[in-house]
Amino acid sequence: MLKGRNLIDPMDFSLVELEEIFNYADEIIENPKDFSHVCDGKILATLFYEPSTRTRLSFEAAMLRLGGQVLGFSEAQSSSAAKGESVADTIRTVECYADIAAIRHPKEGAPKVAAMNSKMPVINAGDGGHQHPTQTLTDLLTIRNIKGRLSNLTIGICGDLKFGRTVHSLIKAMSRYENIKFILIAPNELTIPKYIKVEVLEKNNIEFLEVEKLEDVIGGLDILYMTRVQKERFFNEEDYIRLKDSYMLDKEKMVKAKKDMIILHPLPRVNEIAVELDTDPRACYFRQAKYGMYVRMALIAKLLGVDK
Ligand code: NCD
Repeated sequence: MLKGRNLIDPMDFSLVELEEIFNYADEIIENPKDFSHVCDGKILATLFYEPSTRTRLSFEAAMLRLGGQVLGFSEAQSSSAAKGESVADTIRTVECYADIAAIRHPKEGAPKVAAMNSKMPVINAGDGGHQHPTQTLTDLLTIRNIKGRLSNLTIGICGDLKFGRTVHSLIKAMSRYENIKFILIAPNELTIPKYIKVEVLEKNNIEFLEVEKLEDVIGGLDILYMTRVQKERFFNEEDYIRLKDSYMLDKEKMVKAKKDMIILHPLPRVNEIAVELDTDPRACYFRQAKYGMYVRMALIAKLLGVDK
């Protein structure tokens, strides 16, 4: 039963529950009109204490396309957080006005605190450098629908694996599927956090390789998940400037990639994928953004327990 639940961590839902969400998203993709009133009279609150384009707008588009309505704020400065209000008090207030909330916050664990203080479902829309479970739902639905499977895959993840919350959530979620191999491509300073390596990869006996050069491994990948160097998480600007262009995927590097490898990226892109690749049929990142809206439609409907 997904009704009334929260989504804070990518492991909050079982594989069966995830499949229920993906199947529902498929139904919505097939016949969106059938779902255009399932959230009539319901309100989604989007509480964004950090910048966002896709996550916030896809949540809002999702609710509007389900017939519901949306309220919220898109920067901490325009909310009472600027006056010193706690997340707990904010959520207790917002639940007087809304039926479900999506919250993005620079502090790790803030959405969990919100969920603990809320009677309505709370969705983590990104907490600091920690987790981003709805991006992971997006990534999984994209992989499942374009590659046709979530098992037997070699997944290259490239870029800022230290601060990239989408990476942490994706590895956690994919670790539950059969025969997944990760190739983790990052500069020395931006490698995957130890807790992911020890508690997720090693604990579950998942094959993984850490390398620095993309060119050396691109030929063996089924999926290449590119990420941006997370400027806002750096303590010092010099380090960011030195590392920001560590990887730039272009036509030349793609020559070695398999014909059916797909390129994913949670977006926003900075310099890590050349615009010239956007017309390559293997470039799937804008399709991925669209899947993000459909999977959020399915998620909202399931957590609210509504149906057509
Ligand atoms: C990601 C995020 O916010 O973590 N963006 C997104 O939600 N699609 C990735 C990023 O900002 O680099």
